[in-house]
Amino acid sequence: MVKVLFVCLGNICRSPTAEGVFRLLVEKEGLGDRIMVDSAGTGAWHVGSQPDRRAQAAARQRGIDLSGQRARQAKSGDFQRFDYVLAMDAENHSELAGLCPPGEEHRLHMFLDFAPELGRSNVPDPYYGGDGGFDAVLDMIEAASVGLLADIRDKHL
Ligand code: 4NP
Repeated sequence: MVKVLFVCLGNICRSPTAEGVFRLLVEKEGLGDRIMVDSAGTGAWHVGSQPDRRAQAAARQRGIDLSGQRARQAKSGDFQRFDYVLAMDAENHSELAGLCPPGEEHRLHMFLDFAPELGRSNVPDPYYGGDGGFDAVLDMIEAASVGLLADIRDKHL
């Protein structure tokens, strides 16, 4: 089983969206029993909460249901459990690098490194923006999900 963890700040907007998008892709490809998907936040403010209603609405437009997800905080032990720990932005990456046990750094990536064609490294935080922000975030996440699955196939399957 290949294990993938998406991480943002609050675990209510970007990383739950990535969890939902990537899980749907994995299921469509018939790999649901080979790849496990989860998400977490570097912060603890929203622990136990459902994804932001705007994130849920934008995902629902694309046939993705985020309602079953509940926020949790990323922890050091995640670097023992997960093969891929994917930061949504540079700040998340820096926080995760601080949690990462020595020798496990190869598990930590910037998620958008799997979509070099986008020419950007951060998924922008849509929390304080308008609804259009969530659609743009979904587009970036869909692109990087395709690249991530190709990397997993290449290295693990
Ligand atoms: P996320 O967005 O990191 O994509 O889940 C945020 C959600 C909440 C907050 C910040 C970002 N917040 O400060 O509460």
